[in-house]
Amino acid sequence: MRPIRIALTKGRLEKDTIKLFEKLGFDCEQLHNKGRKLILQIPDANLEIVLAKAADVITYIEHGVCDMGVVGKDTILEYGGTFFEVADLGFGRCKFALAGKKGEDFYAGYAEKTIATKYPNVTHQFFESKGMDVKIVKIEGSVELAPLLGLSDAIVDIVETGSTLKENGLEVYEDVTAISARLIVNTVSLKLRKAEIETVINYIEKALAE
Ligand code: PRP
Repeated sequence: MRPIRIALTKGRLEKDTIKLFEKLGFDCEQLHNKGRKLILQIPDANLEIVLAKAADVITYIEHGVCDMGVVGKDTILEYGGTFFEVADLGFGRCKFALAGKKGEDFYAGYAEKTIATKYPNVTHQFFESKGMDVKIVKIEGSVELAPLLGLSDAIVDIVETGSTLKENGLEVYEDVTAISARLIVNTVSLKLRKAEIETVINYIEKALAE
């Protein structure tokens, strides 16, 4: 049988995930010296690590080609999907926030607002919960540009340290929701390889409790 495969979000969450694996006593040598390799082994634990972009982690888990995954709650909220979310890993903490030019009153006036975001579903749900119609413009990155260029009245984006907003003369108008890294599991894997997966989850929960 193939090793249990864990899809890991490349970039922001990568370092902290490797730190967690090290805390579990796993040999992370291949993860530290990966070069351009995308599939890596943790031989002593019979685990295979797949490095993927956030939204693709969910795709691989949903299709069952990976058994477990580490992904931000931001990606889960935006893309949804069918899987079990089994643990809050506690790192990758940040938030979704509504933000815009400093000193402006976002809620003033009756004209429909335009919101720029990389997360149209999260944005739609946020304003729907307020019963407010907005126009949403999808932006791929550096969303902060949109209000500065006059494309939007505000943005819904990830805020971590707040420096990007600050350095561009923007501020948070309102928090949308808190975000952190989550451990997710394919629904079929959890049944078919229950013992192995539960062992990994138990290890992780123990490490998180320490
Ligand atoms: C994210 C987010 C903000 C920034 C916030 O962008 O979209 O731009 O980080 O971080 P801060 O509050 O610590 O300044 P990311 O770096 O992921 O790249 P992106 O612009 O391509 O979305």
